[in-house]
Amino acid sequence: MTLSNGLSPFLTFVNPETLQIQPNTSGYKKYFRELSGIYADETAFHGLAETFGNAVAYRVDEARFSDQASDLITGISVLEPGKVGQEFFMTRGHLHQRADRPETYYCLAGHGILLLESLAGEIKAMEMRPGSLVYVPPFWLHRSVNVGETVFATLFSYPADAGQDFEIVRQAKGFRQLVVSNANGGWTLAPNPHYRPRTAEEIRVYVARTQS
Ligand SMILES: [Fe+2]
Repeated sequence: MTLSNGLSPFLTFVNPETLQIQPNTSGYKKYFRELSGIYADETAFHGLAETFGNAVAYRVDEARFSDQASDLITGISVLEPGKVGQEFFMTRGHLHQRADRPETYYCLAGHGILLLESLAGEIKAMEMRPGSLVYVPPFWLHRSVNVGETVFATLFSYPADAGQDFEIVRQAKGFRQLVVSNANGGWTLAPNPHYRPRTAEEIRVYVARTQS
């Protein structure tokens, strides 16, 4: 055993104006057209995609140094405001590929929901404003939802070997609940009419996968 894993200390700046990590090691943009299939109202999505398909729906900056289990990835997610039908703009959502890995999210700007779902389908909607901190336990799916009128930005940190499984969300046709607008201009949860619950056997496989 050595005292160093070969990684170097890193100092960077979380820019509160641009909501970027400067410098960062990596990142990506997710365009609106790439989110086909995640919203319940497909007709509304395709209508918007004709006009806004090439717009950035959300972007991520990261400080990522390795994929070692003992390492951490820290990043910023910036999600644009808007709605598809009655459903607020959101990220694809995922379970960690190694599903026993947790995560923290700290709100930097805006008003959003961190929507959490257990493998068994229990939903927790964590309402976030600047300063809010959410702990995502192991084995919980998670996605960001912007219920405000400005960007919703969060700083997140998770074990570097966690990985992301987006397919689990696609197979279930989303999360069990949708975050939609209510009559007062706020948000509420509504049942997802397309949701397909996971079977006990499917849950067993997701849990077993973390132990390989
Ligand atoms: Fe995550």
